[in-house]
Amino acid sequence: MAFFDEIRDGKAYKYLVNGQWKASGSNNRIKLFSPLYDEHFAEIQSVTRQEIDEVMEAALQAQQKWKDTPLHERAELLHKAAALLVENKDEIVKVLVHEVGKPRKSAEDEVLRSADLINYTAEEGIRIHGELLYSDSFPGNKRNKYALVGRVPLGVVLAIPPFNYPINLAASKVAPALVAGNAVVLKTPTQGAVSALHFVQAFHKAGFPPGLINAVTGKGSEIGDYLVEHPRVSMITFTGSTQTGLNIAKKAGMKPLQLELGGKDASIVFEDADLDEAAKNIVSGAFSFSGQRCTAVKRVLVLDSIADQLRDKIIAEVKKLKVGSPDENADICPLIDKNAADFVEGLIKDAEKKGAKLCTPFKRENNTISPVVVDNVTEEMQLAWEEPFGPVLPLIRVKSVDDAIRIANGSEYGLQAAIFTRDIKKALEISRKIDVGTVQINGKTARGPDHFPFLGTKSSGIGTQGVRYSIEAMTRTKSLVINL
Ligand code: NAP
Ligand code: G3H
Repeated sequence: MAFFDEIRDGKAYKYLVNGQWKASGSNNRIKLFSPLYDEHFAEIQSVTRQEIDEVMEAALQAQQKWKDTPLHERAELLHKAAALLVENKDEIVKVLVHEVGKPRKSAEDEVLRSADLINYTAEEGIRIHGELLYSDSFPGNKRNKYALVGRVPLGVVLAIPPFNYPINLAASKVAPALVAGNAVVLKTPTQGAVSALHFVQAFHKAGFPPGLINAVTGKGSEIGDYLVEHPRVSMITFTGSTQTGLNIAKKAGMKPLQLELGGKDASIVFEDADLDEAAKNIVSGAFSFSGQRCTAVKRVLVLDSIADQLRDKIIAEVKKLKVGSPDENADICPLIDKNAADFVEGLIKDAEKKGAKLCTPFKRENNTISPVVVDNVTEEMQLAWEEPFGPVLPLIRVKSVDDAIRIANGSEYGLQAAIFTRDIKKALEISRKIDVGTVQINGKTARGPDHFPFLGTKSSGIGTQGVRYSIEAMTRTKSLVINL
C-alpha cells in the first residue's frame, strides 16, 4: 500500500481518530477547490459532535500512558515522523502547491523546515528538566524544606493552524505538544486540510500510540466552538486571524491559550540605511507567497528625504517578480480565494480614490493580482492600517523619527517591525520604543528560524511560540515540597 493510500477514498479524505482513518457518519463532505484551476480536487469530512467526543476520549486515554513514556522514546518517534516527512516530500509538495497555491520552492522549504523543526523539538524535548529550591533563601526560614520543581504536560492540546502554512504551523504545535507528554487533536484549516492530513500521516506511520495524535476536519464556523469549549481540552494553540482568535479567547474559559494572530509589520527606513539592501529585503518580505504571510512587510515608513530614491529601488525590485503559476515557481500566484482577492482590490481602490499613487499598475486576472506598490499612502486610507494578506505594499512618507514611531505604534497589531539604518545605537533606541514582539534590524520581518521566540503584542496575539517557548507553554510547573 502506498504511504498515503489509507488517508483517502478516491477524492474523499478521512479524519484520524484513535489510530484509524475514518469517514464521518455525517455523510456531509466539504468540497475543496484549488485556487489554481477552480476545480474541485478533494473532499473532507465534516465530523459530528459525537465523533469529536470520541476523538477527545481517545486522546485523553492515550495521554494517560504517554505522559509516563520516557522522554528519549518520545523524541525517537518525533525523529521518525520528521524522516517520513522528508521521504514523502515530493507528494506533500504537490498537494501544497495545488491546495493553497504555494510556489513549488516555498512548498519544498515548508516541508523541509518542518522536518528540521520536529527534529530540533525532539532534541530540545529531552532536556525538559526542573530545579531544586531551598527554603532558607527566603527571609526567616531555615533549610527545612526543599521544593522540587518540575514540568508536567497539560493533557489534550487542541491545535488549530491556518491555511497559509498548513504543515509548518501544524508542526510547530504538534511536535512540542507531543514531546512534552500531551496528546493532540489537530483541527485542520478547511483549505489546507489535505496538506495537514498528509502531515499527520507521517506521525501516524511513525508509530505514535493510537489516540495520541488525531485529526478532525470540518468548518471552523461549525465545529470550532464545540472543540474550543470541549471539557477534555486542556490547552489551545491557534494561528489565524485576529477575529477568530478573539472568538476563541471568549469561548476558552480558563484554558491556557497560545494565539498567533494578524499583523501589520512596518519597515522603517532611515536616511543612513543601505537603500539597495533595504529595498531587496522589503520586496521579498512583502511579496513572498503573494503577501499571504502574517510576517509580510505590510507598510513602509520612509523619511521624506529619501522616499523617492527608496520607492524607485523598490519598483525596480518588484519588476523582477514573476507573476504566474505556483507549479512554475512564480513569485506572485493566485490568492487563496475570490474573497481574499476582492478584499485586496478594495484596499487598493480605496487608497487610489483618496489620492494615493499606484507606482505599478493594478492588474487582476481571476484571483491573481500583480504586485502593487502604492506611494503617498496617508493615515486616512484603510491600506495604512488593514492587513491585506495579498501582494500590495503601501509607502507612507514620514517627516521625522517620532512620526515613524507614532505611526508604527498606531496599529492595532504588534507582531514585528524592521528598522533599516547603519547606526546601531539609533536602531537599538528606536526598537525599545516600538510595541511589537520582535524588531528586526536591517532585515525583513520573518518568523524563522523556528527556535527563535515568536510572539505578538496587542491584537497580534497571546503567548510565545518557538520550540523551547512552546514546550514551556504546553507544560506547567508542578512542585513537590519535602518537609524535613
Ligand atoms: P482564520 O480564518 O482565522 O482561520 C484559522 C483557523 O481557524 C482555520 O483552521 C479555521 O478553520 C479555524 N477556525 C475558524 N473559525 C473558528 C472557530 N470559531 N473556532 C475555532 N477555529 C476556527 O485565518 P486564515 O484566513 O486561515 O489565516 C490568515 C490569518 O492568519 C491572517 O490574519 C494572518 O495574519 C494570520 N496568521 C498569523 C500568524 C502568526 O503566527 N501570527 C501566522 C499565520 C497566519 P476553517 O478553515 O475551517 O475556517
Ligand atoms: O504566516 C505566518 C508565518 O508564521 C510566517 O512565517 O515569516 O517564516 O514566513 P515566515
